[in-house]
Amino acid sequence: MDVVERCLKCGIVPVVVIENADDAVDTAKALLAGGIDCMEVTMRTDAALESVRRIAKEVPEMLVGAGTVLNLDACKAILEAGANFIVSPGFDPATVDYCVENNVPILPGVATPTEIMMALSRGLKLVKFFPANIYGGLKAMKALSGPFVGLKFLPTGGVNGENIKEYIEAPFIAAVGGSWVCTKADISSHNYAKITELSKAARDAIDEVRA
Ligand code: 3PG
Repeated sequence: MDVVERCLKCGIVPVVVIENADDAVDTAKALLAGGIDCMEVTMRTDAALESVRRIAKEVPEMLVGAGTVLNLDACKAILEAGANFIVSPGFDPATVDYCVENNVPILPGVATPTEIMMALSRGLKLVKFFPANIYGGLKAMKALSGPFVGLKFLPTGGVNGENIKEYIEAPFIAAVGGSWVCTKADISSHNYAKITELSKAARDAIDEVRA
């Protein structure tokens, strides 16, 4: 199963901000215990590179990707650390082209038809829709999926335990992203039981919709 398929099967890609690399492995294990086997570690902290390195090495069952990848240098550095896939809030052509040429799965962020066409022209079939709640949420993705037949979205921004089912039910949504199952506060306070509990709840909601 390839990386994209694995994210889709899981149905949720948690957006994870790790401030201390010492918390990385336990965080990944807490997600796994809740049935989530893919995660996006955001490159928003100094601990991101080392966190990805440790998760890739010590938690091989976890598919670890990098998020908030803003340029090609950051992309190359995090791939070197062991990231399995790249997520970006926007569309950086140099980063996308590098990933496509090197068979690295990439989910660029899009919010407009033009950005979607930039993704399609490079053969991408799955894009991140961000920030989903600000740019029209389900209504916007439904409208966009009219002309862009077969395109699937991974919405992030405003997805949570209350609305996850509405998103997962939509045929144009492959999986959701979000920070609610694994918050910065729960990571830094080592509240791993809570991360596992919220992960389980999200996975149950996804399974229920897909049953
Ligand atoms: C992000 O990149 O911060 C994500 O979109 C998470 O958004 P959320 O905190 O609303 O889940």
